[in-house]
Amino acid sequence: MAEDIKSQIQRAINSQPQKTVTMLSCLLAVHDECGFIPTEAIEIIASKNDTSINDVWAVASFYTNFRFTPPAKNIIEICWGPTCHLMGAQQILSAVQDNLSLESEGDTEDGFVSLKYNTCIGACSQAPVITINHHPVHSISTDKILEKINKELKRKND
Ligand code: FES
Repeated sequence: MAEDIKSQIQRAINSQPQKTVTMLSCLLAVHDECGFIPTEAIEIIASKNDTSINDVWAVASFYTNFRFTPPAKNIIEICWGPTCHLMGAQQILSAVQDNLSLESEGDTEDGFVSLKYNTCIGACSQAPVITINHHPVHSISTDKILEKINKELKRKND
């Protein structure tokens, strides 16, 4: 049986290694654990930090990297920072969006991919860079990314 979401949230909050637990550290821990911030987490984090639900929402909604709905089966992040931009990120982004029928960041309707932009993955010397399910792929080309989406990811998800 799948773990209850409240237990998952509690485990994420209680297993933070740092001594100073803050509202933001709780949000990050829950996001890492669940892949998003479930509504239930807001109340639990407010209680843990002795603050209001509104304060937790204010912090959570400030950071655009937090999502509040479950992600798709696969998460692809495309870096469009300066170096990757110079090395062809725009062509890669356009090819991926066309392939997934997306106009921007977001989730495909079938829940297959969540596409995100990233301003620097921290591997500029190997640009253009993307991540697939948090694993970096360096020196990516449009052919390579489309092959990964259409063959590797689809095969894994069948
Ligand atoms: S700009 Fe793309 S990895 Fe730094």
